[in-house]
Amino acid sequence: MNFFEKSFLISPAEFYVTRDRNAVLETYLGSCVGVTLYDPVAKVGGLAHIVLPDGDEKRKAVSPGKYATSALPLLTEKTLELGASKKRLVARMAGGASIYRDLNLNIGQRNAQKARELLIQEGIPILEEDIGGNFGRVLSLKIEDGEIRLRQIGQGLREAPFPGVVREIEPGDILREIDQIQPLPETVRQALAAIDSEPTDSEELKKIIYQDQALTADILKVCNSACYGFSRRISSLSQAITLLGLKTVKKTLLALSLKKVLFQKIPSYSLRTGEMFRHALACAFTAELMAKEKGHDRDSEKFFTAALLHDIGKIVLGQVAFDRFGLVMDMVLKGNRSFIEAEKEILGYTHPQVGALIAQEWNLPLVLIEAIAFHHEPGKARAASEVVAVVHVSNVICSMLGIGCGVDGLVNPVRPEALSLLALDGRAVDNIIERLPEVMKQIKPLEAV
Ligand SMILES: [Fe+2]
Ligand SMILES: [Fe+2]
Repeated sequence: MNFFEKSFLISPAEFYVTRDRNAVLETYLGSCVGVTLYDPVAKVGGLAHIVLPDGDEKRKAVSPGKYATSALPLLTEKTLELGASKKRLVARMAGGASIYRDLNLNIGQRNAQKARELLIQEGIPILEEDIGGNFGRVLSLKIEDGEIRLRQIGQGLREAPFPGVVREIEPGDILREIDQIQPLPETVRQALAAIDSEPTDSEELKKIIYQDQALTADILKVCNSACYGFSRRISSLSQAITLLGLKTVKKTLLALSLKKVLFQKIPSYSLRTGEMFRHALACAFTAELMAKEKGHDRDSEKFFTAALLHDIGKIVLGQVAFDRFGLVMDMVLKGNRSFIEAEKEILGYTHPQVGALIAQEWNLPLVLIEAIAFHHEPGKARAASEVVAVVHVSNVICSMLGIGCGVDGLVNPVRPEALSLLALDGRAVDNIIERLPEVMKQIKPLEAV
């Protein structure tokens, strides 16, 4: 055990190379492919989290870590610069999962194939490969000795002993647990209630935010982060609203107000502390981006908020049924069932159902209740089918990228009705994935405060 061990989390589209012997590089993978390079003599190593096989030259110049064709040459070059010898470099790769009942998006296999071709071309031997399947993975490389640790997300769950008798979950158990969730602060309750009506005006928003001094300070911190790129310091809410716009300030308010609830770990779904929040944010910004592409500039915050809240039911169901998720996973693996089908059969409830109960308890507008209730079954939406479809697809994309994918991210199917409602094909999904760095840039300051 190295007490000085430092862990580096590599996000999608990033790569990192080091010769720091205390470093452990780690990444979460869905359909993306993680490639490690290591020189066992120089003890130099690197890890790339590849999102897509290839892109055009302009895009590769902006985000070289995203594509196999630009990330792998750079990963090799940087390890050599740090003293590795090309003759001694060895590679390992993992990831490339596909979504359960995939609709030929097949990004995982395409990523793996391209990475393989490039490594073979470079003459770098691939010592180990663990590619495919319907599950997320965590891959890490220890620089001290080149040890690779690879685990399937949710593995621990399936290894846990199953209880002999499975007690039915009573509605009262769920309701009691919902009562345990921190009540929504008044600020966010007011902001959420107005999400489906005319946009809030700035005086009203300022009034809401000023009720909470700590929140005001945090919002200003986010507004002053590098992601917005203002050289002048933003010192008041009025200034933030003028410079960044009402919508940005409102989104920041919502994300930060829900952080306490969403930041907690949920072991039942194999989500570590902060992962659920990251997933919610990534889905929210992806949904907003998709909404704007569809001409929803005016009401994009509705899409953002719906995606931010979509998995809220996991907090309660994960707690109430914590001892039964091994059975759920077992059924998924053996019984050709999706995760929510297995949740329904084993637990009697699904996390979207429980999420909708929470949303009703919080008096959220119908659009948010539907988005939460039907985010895995978008065909059932009645009042807000487009919002639900956008939340569904953004959830699929973020899970594919390994962002808070958890145990269930890849074992719920992509629904063709959502893709056709939004007129999306494989190429269009790739195009959304292309814009991932914009999403990641906006997440960082919200995680940091
Ligand atoms: Fe979900
Ligand atoms: Fe999700």
